[in-house]
Amino acid sequence: MYAALKSIGAYIPEKVMTNKDFEKMVDTSDEWIVKRTGIRERHIAAENEMTSDMGVEAAKVAIHRAGLKINDIDMIVCATISPDYLCMPSTACVIASKLGRTNVTAFDISAACTGFIYAMAVAKAFIESGMKKNVLIVGAEKLSAIVDYTDRTTCVLFGDGAGAAVISATNKKSEAITDIHISADGSYGDLLMTPGCGVKEPCSQKVLEEKRCTMKMKGNETFKIAVRTLTSDVVNILNDNEIEAKDITHFIPHQANYRIIKAVGDALKMTPEQVVLTVHKYGNTSSASIPMAMNDIWESGKLLPGDTLLLDAFGGGLTWGSALLPFAGKANKQ
Ligand code: UT7
Repeated sequence: MYAALKSIGAYIPEKVMTNKDFEKMVDTSDEWIVKRTGIRERHIAAENEMTSDMGVEAAKVAIHRAGLKINDIDMIVCATISPDYLCMPSTACVIASKLGRTNVTAFDISAACTGFIYAMAVAKAFIESGMKKNVLIVGAEKLSAIVDYTDRTTCVLFGDGAGAAVISATNKKSEAITDIHISADGSYGDLLMTPGCGVKEPCSQKVLEEKRCTMKMKGNETFKIAVRTLTSDVVNILNDNEIEAKDITHFIPHQANYRIIKAVGDALKMTPEQVVLTVHKYGNTSSASIPMAMNDIWESGKLLPGDTLLLDAFGGGLTWGSALLPFAGKANKQ
């Protein structure tokens, strides 16, 4: 039995925040943000819109496009660093409940921006072992809830949104997810973290006043490790599977910074047509960024059955990973 990516969906919140909006809030400029990151705008969830709500909307689209009903889904895995609740219930359980699916396997994955690739690896393993048939994987983030809007070094980078995919069992080898690499090095954990409101620094007036439950990043150090790690990881997955970069139809990297994407794309000698870019309009949406980007090319009609996809991501933990797979879904004929 093989695991195949059968569909992709996304939800993008309505409200847009532009770089000009940030000029009114912190000491920054549209010019700096565009030059250093490629970001021009990002979408922000409404106050009453939770991570699970965005995940549910993306999930409904993905399930419909896979030609399935919610009761066909036998496992839900949600990758997020901005869960509805700090400890429990998991956002996957909330999503399952909002979709009306009870008595189902549901759990979250905490692998930051690499979460969607981790979720895909888990889905692949469950399907190949014969334990599950149709796994819904969701990457959903309300990062605006864990951003310090007085810290110019992080607040301009992040946005909200969700993406989802259905991974299903198939006996067709041509549809099978070819390979997934997932890795972590926890010794770099302090480069990108939310230090407060966990067990180490329990929630207190001081922790809240010092905004220690928001994201802190040593951006420049993270940047250098990201370029190095992502490049070697994608080179390894291509070599391991005897595939050349020119044979990739769509390279869909995590959308953190245009300069990181360009450096990795250049190292692989990818053409601009191969590299999927959404960072300019969505910013960094962590675990949602890859499925949101994949959904963009599906909706534009560019993602076709049999296309070879190369995904790669890097994030807090530090974690990183890559996936090589054919698109086993239908084309968008709308
Ligand atoms: O998704 C998870 C993984 N995340 C990443 O991979 C992100 C990796 N890091 C990055 O994308 C980049 O490091 C940043 C975009 C975060 C920063 O770009 P940089 O080129 O590495 O800048 P820097 O941190 O070295 O800062 C350069 C200068 C500093 O000023 P001084 O010390 O040179 O006077 C910063 O204070 O830019 C300043 N700066 C800003 N200036 C205007 C930092 N943020 C801003 C800002 N507006 N928003």
